[in-house]
Amino acid sequence: MKGFFLQKTIFRIRQWATRLVYSNRVCKGLYKTWSAFHAKRRAVGRAFSGNTTDSPYTGSQELRAFTRYQTEFSNLPGWFLPQAQVAWDCFLAFQGQQDIHGNMLEIGVWKGKSAALSTLHARANESCIYVDRLVLSEFKETIGLIRQSNHLFLEVASESLPAMPQVMQRGATFRWIHIDGEHSGEAVWRDLAVADELLSDKGILCIDDFPSCAYPQVNFAVVEFLDQHPHLTMIACGHNKGYICRAEIAPLYLVFIKDELHRQMKARGVDVTIWKSGRPADRNCFGITDRVELFDYRGPDWAPGKIEI
Ligand SMILES: C[S@@+](CC[C@H](N)C(=O)[O-])C[C@H]1O[C@@H](n2cnc3c(N)ncnc32)[C@H](O)[C@@H]1O
Repeated sequence: MKGFFLQKTIFRIRQWATRLVYSNRVCKGLYKTWSAFHAKRRAVGRAFSGNTTDSPYTGSQELRAFTRYQTEFSNLPGWFLPQAQVAWDCFLAFQGQQDIHGNMLEIGVWKGKSAALSTLHARANESCIYVDRLVLSEFKETIGLIRQSNHLFLEVASESLPAMPQVMQRGATFRWIHIDGEHSGEAVWRDLAVADELLSDKGILCIDDFPSCAYPQVNFAVVEFLDQHPHLTMIACGHNKGYICRAEIAPLYLVFIKDELHRQMKARGVDVTIWKSGRPADRNCFGITDRVELFDYRGPDWAPGKIEI
């Protein structure tokens, strides 16, 4: 009982502190100073341990980015499940193999747990844009370990993006977009509308907390947006992420998911079941869960062994 009250009090203090940081300039400044102090402390720690950014990585070229991610960044604080990290790496590596080029955008970066992985896949000539209401020194430091140029930190609320030429003038050139900012239905709709302008012909738009019982308004906003924008389609969802692309390119990704994704995820140490439990005309979307029984892939209830796309 005592423990419960203590936990509740700590939770209330944290809630109150978060609200203060976002609503009060002095508190925001103090928090950013605290983050800058942490960033410095980490840099000093790295310098003393001799851990530099250019350590030699072994293993296959394909797994190079992921190996580095696991070693250096996967334990950052944040909201990015290990299974989702693996799925991202598979999609990003697939884009690399297919020679799919383009810029990258993340809305809602926090300390960079997810942004670090996409950034590791970005080629030098691809720009990475990071948007957050609060851009912390710890985040900048993390990105700085991966790349020193061709990136843009925007400390703004994402609703101001449509008025920002440095983003919007790039047009539909983004091969990887991650929406993980404000989780209200209105904000998700707004972010999806921006992403629709920026997503390239062959790009992937990943939406956080889809599907989610904690944020049902995100589910509703996404489904309603897709219904009203049929040139976009969701090809897969799982472990709190939904993956959307333009309808014309969906077959490329669907074949990859059907033929390759399970093997690729397993090669990265994660064993999942990939579901295609509906007909192709019934949304044509795969689901990814932790392994269920002996199924690598699981078809519809009436034909569990049949995967149709
Ligand atoms: C769940 S965290 C992001 C987690 C991060 N992607 C990760 O992998 O750990 C949400 C972030 O969105 C930011 N945020 C909230 N509302 C926002 C808005 N309207 N525009 C931009 N960023 C926002 C918050 O400051 C916070 O850093």
